Amino acid sequence: MDHDIKDPALAPQGRLRMEWAARAMPVLGRIKETFAREKPLAGVRVSACLHVTSETANLMEALKLGGADVRLCASNPLSTQDDITAVLVKDLKIPVFAVKGEDHATYYRHILQALDHGPTITMDDGADLVSVTHSKRKDLLAGVLAGTEETTTGVIRLKSMAENGVLRYPIVAVNDAQTKHLFDNRYGTGQSTLDGILRATNVLLAGMTFVVAGYGMCGKGVAMRARGAGARVVVTEIDPVRAIEAVMDGFEVMPMSAAAAAGDIFLTVTGNKSVIRREHFLRMKDGAIVANAGHFNVEIDIPALEALARGKRRVREYVDEYTLKGGKRVHLLGEGRLINLAAAEGHPAMVMDMSFANQALSVRWLLGRGQGLDRTVFPVPREIDEEIAALKLASMGAAVDKLTPAQKKYLAGWQDGT
Ligand code: ADE
Repeated sequence: MDHDIKDPALAPQGRLRMEWAARAMPVLGRIKETFAREKPLAGVRVSACLHVTSETANLMEALKLGGADVRLCASNPLSTQDDITAVLVKDLKIPVFAVKGEDHATYYRHILQALDHGPTITMDDGADLVSVTHSKRKDLLAGVLAGTEETTTGVIRLKSMAENGVLRYPIVAVNDAQTKHLFDNRYGTGQSTLDGILRATNVLLAGMTFVVAGYGMCGKGVAMRARGAGARVVVTEIDPVRAIEAVMDGFEVMPMSAAAAAGDIFLTVTGNKSVIRREHFLRMKDGAIVANAGHFNVEIDIPALEALARGKRRVREYVDEYTLKGGKRVHLLGEGRLINLAAAEGHPAMVMDMSFANQALSVRWLLGRGQGLDRTVFPVPREIDEEIAALKLASMGAAVDKLTPAQKKYLAGWQDGT
């Protein structure tokens, strides 16, 4: 079987971690059972480009149980868990092309290898598969029925492709499902980002000034959790409405030019490029820590930091110390890549359960729709979102009330007033 991974001997460790994740993924567990029985993906070829984690392994297992022929590559060069690649190849017999720390050329070669079987469905996290299919492997486009996209950055790119008329097949924006972004983006990123920063540095957050750039769902989660750990949290934004939200949530809001001088730790999570750049590095305190949790490693202008530095050394596994002229040190974590996946294990299985249930059920839905969809970006159908919410809630031992007939009538009417 074709594959490219670090070491198949890591499979036993990968198996344990995969099982550990499965315990917190009851919704995906139900889907595995249904897929194994009904085989809704029989004969379907899925090319997946995702962070290769213990949670992703469980999604891959679900797709395979459903009858799909699955190939997997990484959606980031630093996020792969090598023991998971081993269990996928050795035990689940899924071709995987991913090695933690792979270089740029290998990353793209692996994407091409994941596409080699000619996918019916592409499953993306950041739209790199779509981008490669639409550029280097246009010959495959005719055979692709549809795709799914996991993350905000990917959805933005795909919507832009659809608006420009270049998107050649329909894609479901899994990110935009309520049971995805309200939990994965907020609570998942919030916790796993702090986990990554702490594993990389072991700093005490209490009393630190922690600057969060971007107050979308992910930024909200990070700011909330950093405050919980005792940090003084400063938010930077470009959107006035989000900035008001941050102020009313109790955070200080200021431009990065001011935050740069105040911060001890900086975390970018905006989806944009050069959010922290030359002028900001120059204002930072000695010892400042800079990290990113956005999808691509462009939010921190690393070339500008390199150009300012007169020395660079790796002082801990995920910490590069740059010494600027004059002796000031700036610490860059995880080479500016998603710190929650580079230095920690990504979002916990508890939230990935809902994200990946959306992935699996969206694939089944797309197959059911066949060729009937336009070449654009679709939301996850409401019924899927609601089904996942109901299953997750029940698995958490919680329950909701039901509307009485009188309440239903009241909500449907308009005559009743004071
Ligand atoms: N994105 C963020 N966390 C993740 C995880 N644990 N698995 C896959 N993708 C992720």
